[in-house]
Amino acid sequence: MAHWLSIWRAAQLLGVPRGVLQQRVRAGEIELSDGLVSTDTLLRLYPQAELESGGAFERTAALREDAFARRLRERLLPSQEVLAQRLFRQGQELADTQRHLQRYHALVLALRDRIRALRAQAGDDAGRAAPLQALERELTEGLARALATESVDMLDVMDDVLKVVSAQVTLRPSGHQFTVEGRETLLQSGLKAGLKLNYGCGNGSCGMCKVRVTAGEVARTMPTDCPLTEAERAQGIVLACAHTAASAELTLEALEARGPGDIAPQEIVTSVRAVSPLAPDTLLLHLQTPRTHRLRFLAGQSVTLGLAQAADGEDLHATYPLASCPCDDRNLHFYIPRRDDDAFAAHLFAGALRPGAAVAVRGPLGDFVLDEGARPLLLAACDTGFAPVKSLIEHAMSLDAAPSINLYWLATRRDGHFMARLVRSWTEALDAFDATLLDDPDPAQGARAVAAALRAELFDLDCDCFLAGPPAFVATLAETLARFGVPARQVRSLVL
Ligand code: FES
Repeated sequence: MAHWLSIWRAAQLLGVPRGVLQQRVRAGEIELSDGLVSTDTLLRLYPQAELESGGAFERTAALREDAFARRLRERLLPSQEVLAQRLFRQGQELADTQRHLQRYHALVLALRDRIRALRAQAGDDAGRAAPLQALERELTEGLARALATESVDMLDVMDDVLKVVSAQVTLRPSGHQFTVEGRETLLQSGLKAGLKLNYGCGNGSCGMCKVRVTAGEVARTMPTDCPLTEAERAQGIVLACAHTAASAELTLEALEARGPGDIAPQEIVTSVRAVSPLAPDTLLLHLQTPRTHRLRFLAGQSVTLGLAQAADGEDLHATYPLASCPCDDRNLHFYIPRRDDDAFAAHLFAGALRPGAAVAVRGPLGDFVLDEGARPLLLAACDTGFAPVKSLIEHAMSLDAAPSINLYWLATRRDGHFMARLVRSWTEALDAFDATLLDDPDPAQGARAVAAALRAELFDLDCDCFLAGPPAFVATLAETLARFGVPARQVRSLVL
């Protein structure tokens, strides 16, 4: 008998990107019922042979179970208390199901006895006895079929096991879903999944991460300074940064940002963790926020960095895109290029900014961010335009919604593709990721080479395009995309 799973859970079980399943839904290959897909459909579309290379399955049942066990071992387990609560809840559900089955069974047997008795009363009256006899036979055969041992639905078994190890959270009203693994809080897991949850301090003091539990149970992970009123407690309000999922499934009402306009401006004094060279003319600046004050931003956004006390007493500030993922809101990375017109960068290249120094961060700024939806992504970066593009790629990977990601990275300086190893690792690890690295000292000429590569690959016009780099690069490519027929609303630009 088929079981029904959400697309999110199905992707997790099969080990394929959610975007791929969503694409198959759009193509009519997967039919949904109430937003759920049947395990029969999944097993038809993903037979063992196809899955053995990258998914959870292997050729034989034994190997398949080994592969699944390996994937489970790789996951971090929740705390003993949370694990016990999830197992207890699952045990209760099983006991309920068993009790219902026993009652149904007793009911069917009683019904059969009653039919037998009526047939005996009918005696030689064939007109009354024959339908009763047929009914009894139907009941006996149906019972035998129901009690026969069938091969189990592996996806269903795996789903039950996964439910204990990693809880599934559904947000209302958005319908977004994410997994809570290990000892993560609801907030940490939601951010890791690329969701734009509302929050502030991340440590239980500001109250901005309040969510309402509408189904399932939560467990507190740490004491908090933010008191909840009696009314809030009665409504099921909890702090997402201080709770985890105690049941295998959880539904929360939560506030999520819809776009950059929903993220409040912030000002945080961070400290320098490291300033290290990535290439002769590019530095990695790693800033860390205080534990109690993290930066809430969207992938692709920028911030203004300020030094209150430069060596000559002058205030220095400059705006740079973040290269890191919003899921790590304490560790902020920037790729700073050497430029004659950038005094902040000159200060860094002169070695004047040491670990531990204070840097003010103001922002976030800009709308160079991913839209909701599951369109293929086309990302084109020139030189350190790779920074916001990297942030977008990491965010897209967390969301797991884009069916494909294509990166074009043009290098115009002697630093070349200073993160080529990272790009290679994405290419090797992800089926849906492809990268083309190009060199040309002239940004406009290089943009034309990117455009030629796009045309040669007959890229999907129904994609979201992100262009980041110097003015000539961005303008040339935006113009070309418009000529190709990509609607302007699908193109985002960031001029650096
Ligand atoms: S983020 Fe401040 S209390 Fe949770």
